Amino acid sequence: MALIEGFRVQNYRALRDVTLGKLSNQQDGEPLTPFTVVIGKNGVGKSTLFDAFGFVADCLSHDVESACDMKQRGGFERLRSMGSNDAIRFEIYYREATGERPMTYELAIALDETGRPFVESEVLKQRRKGQKHGRPYPFLRLHHGKGMVWAGEEAVETAGGGEDRAQEPVELTDLRQLGIATLGTLKEHPRIKRFRDFLKGWYLSYFYPDAARSLPSAGPQKHLNSHGDNIGNVVQFMEREHKDRFKLILERIAAKIPGVKSIDTEVTIDKRVVLRFNDGAFDDPFYAQQMSDGTLKVFAYLLLMEDPDPPPFICIEEPENGLYHKLLEALAQEFRAHATGKKNAPQIFVTTHQPYFVDALSAAEVWILEKGADGYSSVRRVSDLVVVRNLVDEGLPLGGLWYSDYLDAR
Ligand SMILES: Nc1ncnc2c1ncn2[C@@H]1O[C@H](COP(=O)(O)OP(=O)(O)OP(=O)(O)O)[C@@H](O)[C@H]1O
Ligand SMILES: [Mg+2]
Repeated sequence: MALIEGFRVQNYRALRDVTLGKLSNQQDGEPLTPFTVVIGKNGVGKSTLFDAFGFVADCLSHDVESACDMKQRGGFERLRSMGSNDAIRFEIYYREATGERPMTYELAIALDETGRPFVESEVLKQRRKGQKHGRPYPFLRLHHGKGMVWAGEEAVETAGGGEDRAQEPVELTDLRQLGIATLGTLKEHPRIKRFRDFLKGWYLSYFYPDAARSLPSAGPQKHLNSHGDNIGNVVQFMEREHKDRFKLILERIAAKIPGVKSIDTEVTIDKRVVLRFNDGAFDDPFYAQQMSDGTLKVFAYLLLMEDPDPPPFICIEEPENGLYHKLLEALAQEFRAHATGKKNAPQIFVTTHQPYFVDALSAAEVWILEKGADGYSSVRRVSDLVVVRNLVDEGLPLGGLWYSDYLDAR
């Protein structure tokens, strides 16, 4: 499975310089776990961190200027950390599969002289084939849209800068587009393609229960979209292609939410798909429009997790909203089981306010964001807090420790 082992954000709102996990130049760091959870008080930057992932994904699927303006981000000047004149930077340290050489992607976005955001620089680098340690070398290096790319699976920049047949100059025509967006479509750059595909596959959940109550046009669809308004279409797909898997989801929902016995779809006369819930008590089914927010939410998460071809990376903000507290520990376990289970398991990143959710987690899975007196946030891994680690080892649940202020103490 693909794993983001580390992520660094610089100059993105309150995240002036924040690193989670391991980076290519910080090899003593512990990699991120397949299931990672960020907690912290109001205003410390949890949504900002979630949005940092979303922003990088939007830079690829749109362009950097649109990404700055969309989703109420308010433009580059609003996004850049107050008091900074530097570029907004991201670094992703990522491994395509266990045993593969890790790859680093560095992206810097700045303003040009007309005040327009553009891609200032972009680097993809990797260690030489066969090397387990040592410095990574670029196989894509762009500055203001100009630079070099090294084709194939193995070539990287040589230290002496000598001629390499795999080396080609690159010049991009649109400085608002990521280089990996164009180069990643070319067959001669398989590594860039794989990284681009990985990034394109990220799933950021903007689910809201009313979206699941909409009535989309009928027709099976493979994947749940980010708002969840095609949930009926995904159920149609599961009913048709993955009957057994779908039955399992229903059993798990029935175990978690009283009164849900079966779920299926009905196609209306005008060819829209509606979700039908049967609770066993009444003969007539309920429709999604009548179902509770929490039921729809749990159903959407389980459906997302059970996708036979899941996204490689899933981000969910505050999944606890609207859910019964006793369900939260089970939901966290469900997320972990999916993040660590199969070969193509997704990495799952969650922000939360809920101690019950955190009770199910290990200290290495939890990061705590805090805001300093200077207005910028910092992040610590809970397993680095010795006292907390010892208490967890003694069997105390992490959420309880958080509730009792053990995690906040500096
Ligand atoms: N450009 C900026 N530079 C520095 N700080 C900023 C910038 N823009 C916003 N902030 C700070 O970031 C905070 C918002 O952080 P965010 O919304 O990520 O918090 P949160 O942890 O999600 O909080 P909550 O738990 O309330 O949802 C704002 O309160 C503001 O102080
Ligand atoms: Mg928030």
